[in-house]
Amino acid sequence: MLRRLLILSIAVYMFTGVVAGVARGEDRIKIIFDTDFVMPPYDDSMALMLALQSPEFEILGITTVAGNDSVERATSDVLRMLEIAKQSDIPVYRGADMPLVHEKSDFAVREYGNWYSDEPAPVPPGGYAEKKAEAESAASFMVRSVLENPGEITLVAIGPLTNVAQAIRADAGVAENVKRLVIMGGAIAILPDGGGNITPNAEFNFWVDPEAAYTTLRSGIPIDLSPLNVSRKSSLSNAWYEQIVATDTPLTRLLKNTLGQHFAKEPDRIYFMYDQIAVASLIDPTLVTRERLYVDVDIHHGINYGVSVGGRNLWPGAEGAAQLDVQYELDWPRFINLFIERIGSPLRGIGN
Ligand code: RIB
Ligand code: CA
Repeated sequence: MLRRLLILSIAVYMFTGVVAGVARGEDRIKIIFDTDFVMPPYDDSMALMLALQSPEFEILGITTVAGNDSVERATSDVLRMLEIAKQSDIPVYRGADMPLVHEKSDFAVREYGNWYSDEPAPVPPGGYAEKKAEAESAASFMVRSVLENPGEITLVAIGPLTNVAQAIRADAGVAENVKRLVIMGGAIAILPDGGGNITPNAEFNFWVDPEAAYTTLRSGIPIDLSPLNVSRKSSLSNAWYEQIVATDTPLTRLLKNTLGQHFAKEPDRIYFMYDQIAVASLIDPTLVTRERLYVDVDIHHGINYGVSVGGRNLWPGAEGAAQLDVQYELDWPRFINLFIERIGSPLRGIGN
């Protein structure tokens, strides 16, 4: 009996110690969150909600990039999201408004994404945020933060990699001093579910800025790649959505007013969860299964522009490619339950 009591007390002491440590900011993962943000139903918004509601993270800043829509819209929508989540103290840095090389084309205009747009940002739900973006650029913020915190910062990149590549090119110390880089991007044909989603074999984020993806993947930064293969193991249905919004918070209200309308029109629709999985895999690395592969990106302006290719060994033409951890399997029940729990919890933000 005495022994059991002793074990119980030690367990309680250790648990409260861990929780207190996280609350005090010890052991928190310092992240910079790079996103082609758009309000729900876009996945970036739900990925940011998850990050904002997760005590494992200390978010140093949010950097925006053109991708799903223009960088102006990404910036305006992020600022509004922070206001809704009562975390406007997190600084937002406007990033690249165009990919490094990729020109606007008829195909780009016709297909998914609005990265080439120079329209002003539309009004986000509830109106424009009061707070503005910082004057410093996204790439400059990344360089400065990484050099000031060598080996401590994890970059979470869930849009085209333009800002990240600019930071890597700006200072050699960036690649040497980033702790880890989690990327949502690419599709790997040698693993199951490896087709593209914008061209037959290219994934959207890599296709928007293939040169940035090529530079980033070859930079030497330790990379955890969350490609379409693992996204396709998710399925956000109306039934799961109902569980997410079962409790009433400012975040679930936003989801009801946006994603909810889509489910009301198309109750049988299933959404893949892309960027949310990348964020969750950093909170709990055991949610996904990985294989270590060489991954490179095709930057030739032909039919494979922006295609990521993964291999167990190097192949001719891929000399210099780096080995990355590539996610391909997901523990869906544990992932979606973590997501429901975090999004439905009371806001962590205390307002600003
Ligand atoms: O291919 C999926 C990626 O592109 C995600 O980051 C999503 O936001 C989409 O635009
Ligand atoms: Ca995205």
